[in-house]
Amino acid sequence: MLVQDTSALERIAIKFIRNDTNPGESSKLYGIMCCCKHQLEIFISHEEIARSVARLASEINHDYGGKALLLIGVLKGSFVFMADLIRQLGLPVEMDFIRLSSYGAARESSGKVKVIQRLSASVKGRDVLIIEDIVDTGGTISFLLDYLKRKKPASLRLCALMDKPSRRQISVPIDYLGFTVPDKFIVGYGLDFDEKFRYLPDICFVGD
Ligand code: IMP
Ligand code: MG
Repeated sequence: MLVQDTSALERIAIKFIRNDTNPGESSKLYGIMCCCKHQLEIFISHEEIARSVARLASEINHDYGGKALLLIGVLKGSFVFMADLIRQLGLPVEMDFIRLSSYGAARESSGKVKVIQRLSASVKGRDVLIIEDIVDTGGTISFLLDYLKRKKPASLRLCALMDKPSRRQISVPIDYLGFTVPDKFIVGYGLDFDEKFRYLPDICFVGD
């Protein structure tokens, strides 16, 4: 099918996905979101994500036992996950965000990490939990762990929604993990491909 106005097609598919009561139908709709030539396939449904977020929140609640926490979200990919997670935490949390260099329009990391947007909160003496969307080569998180350790937090842990262990180049400890995923490019639930698809409620694979 040759589609001239792909953004119109995308808008129609989004409308149906939002109103969809039958999860099976969403798969077909993602299939037609072939703007920019990429076919999408649901890998983890929003129901499975919700169950995983609830489990992670209960682990964190249990481990921190009412302590005040500073959550540091890694922008932009973690913002949807973090928004869902904080609403299930029964802890007095504060939030801050850091933005690190991203892939841009490429699917491969450049390997060099830079701080694009700095933290505004003070980390010294705080219990800090990093919230990340996905750990891939490990370069981003290993950089961030070193960066934050130098600021002397009382404790420092990592909560990642996804782990792609097959691509790991630098070993990083993940204290709280949602899903282990295969070596495929993923979008949705905050994750993008060239800034597209962050709004999708499900986690999807991008085909070639
Ligand atoms: P790493 O430094 O290679 O571990 O990459 C980490 C960052 O790359 C993550 O924070 C994501 O923002 C991004 N990333 C890695 N894999 C994917 C993917 O499959 N889809 C979208 N973004 C990804
Ligand atoms: Mg990220």
